[in-house]
Amino acid sequence: MKAVRYHEHGGTDVLELEEVDRPEPDAGEVRVEIAAAGINPVDTYFREGSYAPESLPWIPGSDFAGTVEAVGDDVTEFQPSDRVFGTGLGKDVPGTCAEYAVSPTDRIAILPEGTSFEVGAALGVPAVTAWRSLIDHADLEPAERCLVHGGSGGVGHAAVQIAAATGADVTTTASPEYHDRLESLGADATVDYARDDLEDAVVEAGSPDVILDHRLDDYLQFDADVAKQGTRVVGIGNTVPEAGFSNVPAARSKELRIHLISMFNTPDISAVLRRVAKLLSAGKLSAEIARTYDLEDVDSAHEDVLSESFFGKLVVTP
Ligand SMILES: NC(=O)c1ccc[n+]([C@@H]2O[C@H](COP(=O)([O-])OP(=O)(O)OC[C@H]3O[C@@H](n4cnc5c(N)ncnc54)[C@H](OP(=O)(O)O)[C@@H]3O)[C@@H](O)[C@H]2O)c1
Repeated sequence: MKAVRYHEHGGTDVLELEEVDRPEPDAGEVRVEIAAAGINPVDTYFREGSYAPESLPWIPGSDFAGTVEAVGDDVTEFQPSDRVFGTGLGKDVPGTCAEYAVSPTDRIAILPEGTSFEVGAALGVPAVTAWRSLIDHADLEPAERCLVHGGSGGVGHAAVQIAAATGADVTTTASPEYHDRLESLGADATVDYARDDLEDAVVEAGSPDVILDHRLDDYLQFDADVAKQGTRVVGIGNTVPEAGFSNVPAARSKELRIHLISMFNTPDISAVLRRVAKLLSAGKLSAEIARTYDLEDVDSAHEDVLSESFFGKLVVTP
């Protein structure tokens, strides 16, 4: 099969399109013919080596959607020809930028009829991260106010929809060109993150009970400033990998309840994906596909995911 691999850590030039053996599913695994693979910032961290994958050479990519093509010995819940989507590959098992990938069954779910493979592949890391942040960690309740920083990104646009689906009031920050689309996805208030009076604008919409923060080193002070006493803040990312927290006193005085999470620690990815599938079926969640790439162009997708502005997701279609 064709697969993108890297033999050493480095820039996008380490990515090579190669012919490799098709992987065989063990017990508890399925082999999926990949129709689409979502690209995430974390794919680039594994490639660069700031997060270490299991071994080298390595196939990048966490997220995927496609058709089950073979099942391992004791697999009863999935069968060949099932349409599935999944996430959590590319770290301890080879990734999804390939014609086929093998996934443990506890990292996949059935893709609802009517949902495209591209949309399924775009939702893995983003929707599971948003669910784990807002529902599992922050315990977001109906009618609470939820602030989603960076609503136009992969995680952000999934989080806006999931927060809205819980019945929360959603404020999100994004570039002005994306505000209309975010409102159509359920945001009640949209604010340009570049505004000088960002803090006033967010507070005017309502001090948040829950904050999803993808740039914690930039925004922890801001979070403390706009928060109520005891606001739950879920931190999923930093702009500077080694950044520490210089704003702890402000966070402490508001008694922020800070959760730092990693999607890869989700105990039962499949259970979250099944709930994501329910939202998809109910028309309460989708993914915006900003751009698709061929396998040959995964290097461009890795460049673009960190450097370009886009609404939603970048997806590879092998
Ligand atoms: N901990 C976890 O498990 C986990 C899981 C998923 C993601 N993450 C991390 O979360 C971050 C976001 O991931 P993603 O997949 O959503 O990335 P993405 O699709 O690239 O989105 C990033 C978003 O940030 C926005 N942004 C840029 N500058 C901003 C600013 N100053 N203030 C607010 N927003 C700003 C971008 O908007 P523009 O287009 O206007 O620049 C874009 O919408 C990454 O650092 C990723 O590594 C962590």
